[in-house]
Parts: sequence; C-alpha cells; structure tokens
Amino acid sequence: MICSDYNIAYTRRRFLKPCLSSEEIRQLEALERLCFPPQDRYDFRTLRLFVSLNGIGVLRYYEESLPERPLVAFHMFDCLTAELITLDVHPHHRGKGIGSHLISLSLEKLRSLGHTRATCEISVGNVASLNLHKKFGFKPIKLLRNYYGAGRHAYLLRTSLRQPTRSASITIP
Ligand SMILES: CC(C)(COP(=O)(O)OP(=O)(O)OC[C@H]1O[C@@H](n2cnc3c(N)ncnc32)[C@H](O)[C@@H]1OP(=O)(O)O)[C@@H](O)C(=O)NCCC(=O)NCCS
Repeated sequence: MICSDYNIAYTRRRFLKPCLSSEEIRQLEALERLCFPPQDRYDFRTLRLFVSLNGIGVLRYYEESLPERPLVAFHMFDCLTAELITLDVHPHHRGKGIGSHLISLSLEKLRSLGHTRATCEISVGNVASLNLHKKFGFKPIKLLRNYYGAGRHAYLLRTSLRQPTRSASITIP
C-alpha cells in the first residue's frame, strides 16, 4: 500500500504543521538508520522539519503481504523546487522495483504540478542510487565537492519531465 502526503499551501510560509504524526516520523527515522551510516542519516528533528516544509511530498510504501504491515520504503521530495530529497528502501526489500516505483510516482507528481525538470544530489560512490536515477533520465550536471563533508563529493543530477515518466511496476510476487 502506498500512502501519499503533501504539505502544500502556496503561501510564503516556509513551514506548516507536520503532515505526518510523531509515530509516523519515528518509522521514517528507523528506516533511515537501516539505510544510511550515522553521519549521513536524517534524525527525528530533521525529518520533522522536512515533513513541515511547505511543498514537501512524502510517499510511503507499506508491505501488506506481511502480518505487521511494516513500512519498507519512503521517498521525500520538494514539490515547489522539484528536488528529490531522499529515498529509503529496507535492505530486505531491495531489488524488487520499489525504489523505481516511488521515483516514477514522484516524477509524475512533479510533472503534474507543471515542473519541466527535477534535480537531486547523490554521493559519487552510491552506485545503486546513481544507476536507479539514470533509468529516469537523471544525468550529472555538476560535481559538488565536499557536499557530504571533507573529501566526500556528490553529483548534482537533473532530468527532464517533458515526456511522461516511464511506468515502473513493483515485481514482488
Ligand atoms: C538505492 C535504493 C533506493 C534502490 O532501491 P531498490 O528498490 O532496490 O531499487 P530498484 O529495485 O527499483 O532498482 C532499480 C535500478 O536501480 C539500480 N540498482 C538497484 N540496486 C542496485 C545495486 N545494488 N547495484 C547497482 N545498481 C542497483 C539498477 O539499475 C536497478 O535496475 P535493474 O533492476 O533493472 O538492474 C536502495 O538501494 C536504498 O535504499 N539504498 C540505501 C539508501 C540510498 O542510498 N538511497 C538513495 C539516496 S540518494
């Protein structure tokens, strides 16, 4: 099951009420811990700020075939700037097309809002994420030196949204 939440007010206020509850933010935080090393992960406070941002979009994927219906993935993006912020897929659920599915949904949403291109930043060493985004037309346009700290560089990537995003289906049996 996919839950979509948007915090868009089209006012000049930068922050709104969080669009997720504290319990739901804790679930995102738990997934961040499984997906990123300590220096790279977002903590509760930062995630709470993100879901309070005017313009934020959050997609959450819950695995319904498992009894406790765990959160297995989420994707955050900024609907005002068309920037993808983060994408987390639980290590046990990777390689099933879940990441692709969430990106195809976020790009379609951005397109429907009138954006003609989307951007994201990815560590130069994150081969899985670079490959995934390449499939959606993202190309590196700039090297962001020391973006994640001294000696830890990232690419700024951009894709065009002028063509409909290719559909990506989840391949879980
Ligand atoms: C990157 C990540 C989101 C991919 O999610 P996923 O659901 O496993 O991705 P998909 O199954 O949709 O894979 C789509 C494509 O991504 C690429 N890819 C995914 N995992 C890969 C890996 N381990 N090595 C190389 N390429 C990989 C492949 O091109 C794949 O296409 P293919 O199946 O046709 O080969 C996931 O590995 C993850 O959560 N990583 C840790 C957090 C992270 O780095 N997030 C991105 C931050 S920018």
